[in-house]
Amino acid sequence: MLRRLHHEQPDSFAFTSDNQKWAEAQITKYPEGRQASAIIPLLWRAQEQEGWLTRPAIEHVSEMLGLAYIRGLEVATFYFMFQLQPVGSVAHIQICGTTTCMICGAEDLVSVCKEKIAANPHELSADGKFSWEEVECLGACANAPMAQIGKDYYEDLTADKLTQLLDDLAAGKVPVPGPQNGRYASEPLGGLTSLKDQDSGKTQYNASAQLAVDIGDTVKRIDGTEVPLVTPWQGKGANTDAAPAKGKAVKRDPLMPPEGPDGKQGGRVAGEKAAPRNVGASSDGRSEAPGEAPKAMAKAKPKTGSVAPEKADKSVKAQSGKATESAGKKPRMMKAPRKSGADDLKLIKGVGPKLENMLNSMGVFHFDQIAKWGDEEIIWADQNLQGFKGRVSRDDWVEQAKKLAVGEETAFSAKARTDGRYDGGS
Ligand code: FES
Repeated sequence: MLRRLHHEQPDSFAFTSDNQKWAEAQITKYPEGRQASAIIPLLWRAQEQEGWLTRPAIEHVSEMLGLAYIRGLEVATFYFMFQLQPVGSVAHIQICGTTTCMICGAEDLVSVCKEKIAANPHELSADGKFSWEEVECLGACANAPMAQIGKDYYEDLTADKLTQLLDDLAAGKVPVPGPQNGRYASEPLGGLTSLKDQDSGKTQYNASAQLAVDIGDTVKRIDGTEVPLVTPWQGKGANTDAAPAKGKAVKRDPLMPPEGPDGKQGGRVAGEKAAPRNVGASSDGRSEAPGEAPKAMAKAKPKTGSVAPEKADKSVKAQSGKATESAGKKPRMMKAPRKSGADDLKLIKGVGPKLENMLNSMGVFHFDQIAKWGDEEIIWADQNLQGFKGRVSRDDWVEQAKKLAVGEETAFSAKARTDGRYDGGS
């Protein structure tokens, strides 16, 4: 299957503060030098937050792990657990279409999806609540045919059972995962024929279904209002039926696309083509109220060389939500790079394109600037790199910068130069 990034992407991505803390904690689980192994849980959390995996989210996670973007893209595009396009606000249905499931009726399940959701895979239903796709074997062949919805498996399905599941989900219910034909797990349909004493001490549902029920973590985006709707062409209160009074400003959901000339919402539903535009992203996922400006869009985005260092500094502080000027000592900044041009700060392990832009916006362009930072400057920088706090000391930028400033290579810079980079940087 061809897996490409969606043609419409939000401008930016940021974890919610809780998710950021969670992600940083995940990274600490891995030994020094192996932090890249945290990529799957971090990408998954980003997907849970936004509904699907956007390019800025992949880049953000890659930067957190000190990886070239291409490494993040390799993982995100390889596994079909990662959705690279907007999905239904309530559920994305993944129907297993491999041999066992196909023999046991997967094609009937696909027909239900085509009829009830949309004619084509990855197309949103008319109400934006559902989407579907066919996937390869999900390893539950003994309970074929089956579908994965969110994190959970719904097994032993029939067309009628799947229809009922979709109706329940649309009504805001959370169907219990696991076998849907009365089986406990994958025992014979007529019941156990051996090891019958294993029945004692059983929980109500089999282990994985019971866990899903106990945690209450199944199909999280159940009513569709909790999603940031990075699928902005689907209504979220902005699609008002009543025409506004003449001259009165219409309060529109900032995530929604601009209205067409006919005043119609630029929506895309089954059978319609998407309006060509960039999607606005929310940084704060589920708690965002309809009509509220998404936080990521409200933030100033520093651009290299376009923001005066002092202004950029204020912007960085504003993003952090509290003044941190008092922590440590602000390093000496430059208004612009020297005539020879700025150094490629991405050669410092832990600095990606986003951090490089942020540093440039603050007035840091050269290795020798960083090489001169003492303890106090490190504290200041660690505190003021929004979204990357602690990165300077964690990756020991100063020692790296000292070598790079005098033309020596570090292990990372040598590898980065030979690997090449996703964004074409040297
Ligand atoms: S063939 Fe469907 S789960 Fe294996």
